[in-house]
Amino acid sequence: MKLKVSVIGTGYLGATHAACMSSMGFEVVGIDVDALKISALASGKIPFYEPDLQELLQKEISSGRLTFSTDFNSIADADVHFICVGTPQLENSLAADLQYIDAALEAIAPICKPGSLVVGKSTVPVGTAARLREKLLRINPEADLAWNPEFLREGFAVEDTLRPNRLVVGVTSDAAENTLKEIYRTNLEAKTPWVRADLPTAELVKVAANSFLATKISFINAMAEICEAAGGDVTVLAEAIGYDPRIGSRFLQAGIGFGGGCLPKDIRAFMARASELGADQALEFLREIDSINLRARQRVIELVRKDLSQDLTGKSIAVLGAAFKPDSDDVRDSPALDIAAQIAAAGAKVTVHDPKAIAPAKKRFPALNYCESIEETLGGADLVLHLTEWKIYRELDPLKMKSLVASPVIIDGRNALDRDAWVAAGWKFRALGRTN
Ligand code: UGA
Repeated sequence: MKLKVSVIGTGYLGATHAACMSSMGFEVVGIDVDALKISALASGKIPFYEPDLQELLQKEISSGRLTFSTDFNSIADADVHFICVGTPQLENSLAADLQYIDAALEAIAPICKPGSLVVGKSTVPVGTAARLREKLLRINPEADLAWNPEFLREGFAVEDTLRPNRLVVGVTSDAAENTLKEIYRTNLEAKTPWVRADLPTAELVKVAANSFLATKISFINAMAEICEAAGGDVTVLAEAIGYDPRIGSRFLQAGIGFGGGCLPKDIRAFMARASELGADQALEFLREIDSINLRARQRVIELVRKDLSQDLTGKSIAVLGAAFKPDSDDVRDSPALDIAAQIAAAGAKVTVHDPKAIAPAKKRFPALNYCESIEETLGGADLVLHLTEWKIYRELDPLKMKSLVASPVIIDGRNALDRDAWVAAGWKFRALGRTN
């Protein structure tokens, strides 16, 4: 008999996890307190953009294995409960807000059946899993709790969930590990590396991985600052150091830096937790990683000012990209949207284009102008800012684009456009970390 699985919290992580678990053959119920989200998902619609997920969701709902509910009683008989709720940054602190994860645990603890396993997937400050396990066992001594961090990237959520590059399980017993081995049997058969850890290590793996990625990005953005000061080219530098397999070429794309719902809040929550643990010094460098990252946004704004003789009042600026990265409509802490809003606040007339993120961007910054057509966005612009590296922007014809703007000046905030092609078409081309 296949295990019955529940997924508590059906946001980005949970909706993807529920659909993928169902495609692995499990009977899955997705649970959320948000009735609107649940009814959208139940009718096969995801309330955000993620390649391949909608198709998978619809297929799994039709198979009869995947259902959604707001009623916790519908999951009382499940064998495994995955907790996938959000842990956003608290408003007045660097720390993570754990109210949703505590609420999820408190809802499931009194009703889960003996022998069932609660599995945390959300990103949490180290120590949370042990605390939640204690709470669970106090209410329901015959259940257990494990931690199984998630490493999926937005834009590749389905692929990363179905074929992860490793599985990390924080457990306190062989029985818990065996249940998770049963859940991930397909991956184990495909030889996915399996790491068994204790609870605190499993929690730390996640924030350590995101901190490392953030550090790599800020490292190359620091090199971009040096290249600008010294007259070098950060894209050539990144290529050259990336050939060393100990360094590797991925996540060395210099530009306006990292955003989204994970890297920024995770490094901040990690610093806050280290401080509580009396180990602040160990993560002092993350403060610098954060400031290099935020500085990249200001450096682009300085480039804009330089090109428009400092005064932005009334200048028409076309912004290509609002999402925090391509193939996503997520605008949480999006560097692109932050820059667009700051430039508008300085008096410029900003028009933003994005293939998927206009609706969420509008919600966040209703005062900016948004446009569905690239041609109209660029029409009459004094300067073009390329801020999210969607494929359609890389495929633009610079010559055709030149005929639309008032002045052919483009700043590539992602170092992703073909500079030679834009220059050959007569554009003044600027980019972070490239002086020649
Ligand atoms: C990140 C991690 O990559 C995932 O492994 C992790 O599971 C996830 O957070 C999470 O904690 O849930 P994600 O936020 O989807 O995934 O996005 P990334 O692909 O990591 O990109 C983050 C930001 O860094 C984006 O704004 C991107 O534009 C920027 N970036 C990335 C750069 O500026 N340069 C690069 O070279 C790479």
